[in-house]
Amino acid sequence: MKEAVEKLVETACRALSGLEEDPKALDQARIRFLGRKGELAQLFKELGKVPEEERREVGRLLNVAKLRLEEAFSEAAQRSRDVEAARRESIDVTVPGRRPPAGRLHPITQTATEVCRIFNWLGFETVEGPEVELDYYNFEALNIPKDHPARDMQDTFYISEEVVLRTHTSPIQVRTMEKRKPPVRVIAPGRTYRRDSDVTHTPMFHQVEGLMVGKGISFGDLKGILTTFVHQMFGPEVGLRFRPSFFPFTEPSAEVDIECVMCRGGGCRVCKGTGWLEILGSGMVDPEVYKYVGYDPEEVSGFAFGMGIERIAMLKFGIDDLRLFFENDLRFLEQF
Ligand code: DAH
Repeated sequence: MKEAVEKLVETACRALSGLEEDPKALDQARIRFLGRKGELAQLFKELGKVPEEERREVGRLLNVAKLRLEEAFSEAAQRSRDVEAARRESIDVTVPGRRPPAGRLHPITQTATEVCRIFNWLGFETVEGPEVELDYYNFEALNIPKDHPARDMQDTFYISEEVVLRTHTSPIQVRTMEKRKPPVRVIAPGRTYRRDSDVTHTPMFHQVEGLMVGKGISFGDLKGILTTFVHQMFGPEVGLRFRPSFFPFTEPSAEVDIECVMCRGGGCRVCKGTGWLEILGSGMVDPEVYKYVGYDPEEVSGFAFGMGIERIAMLKFGIDDLRLFFENDLRFLEQF
């Protein structure tokens, strides 16, 4: 028994060394040796079994051991507090603060927001439409007949005979005119889908649609509004041109090119040596479309336009690979 007491003190003291660095382990050790059900308490329990003549002596030894352990633990606890205090005092207050990681808007979102902001400033209201769209709004009411190549299975994701994933934001024109009486002035950003996937095409991409209809709206208004937009978006020094084109839902139609933002019109790889970059399709709303929404083409006229956000974002930020927008690589996204 005497040896057991000595051994306990020895083990406990050895277990204590180095624990000042670790307050949790120190506490566990205290419970192990000094706790109510700890090793010392166990020895006290066994005191009854010690022969009568030795009991006094062993009891005394146990009490001494108890005092020694309590002292050792309280010293260790003090050292532990000292270590902690020293650690706190050694904080270098001149070290620059760590920035918590912050999220930011995707460049596509930023670009769409910027386009809408410019048109809002020009009096256009932002509206939206469904991505799962009726064939009627995506094609039929936009004067795209059943046998038009744009309806080819190659391009359109069909959900059913009458339901598609919208291939452009133009159906929002029809939905808007259906709901509102002229004059209307709306800008409509959103996701669009086409069965197309290669280096320059992704099955999902983004467009912004614009529509302005009212009394006496002319091609001059179209040119003025789109010129103002280009100058706001890319800078007042950037030249633009209106190039005759065709869309089933506009007549006449025009595509807008801007001076290549990479080479300033000199000719480079991005503009394929032409000095010009196409950025949007536009035109005067075809009277055929007004028939579907109950507008009187004798009373009102207007223009519409649509542009690809990815394309605008690439030109605005100088990004040369479309795929970067969809990979969600933080090293790319954090640059915006
Ligand atoms: N919807 C056309 C497309 O996806 C773009 C477009 C062209 C929209 C002319 C228009 C427009 O509103 O007037 O290619």
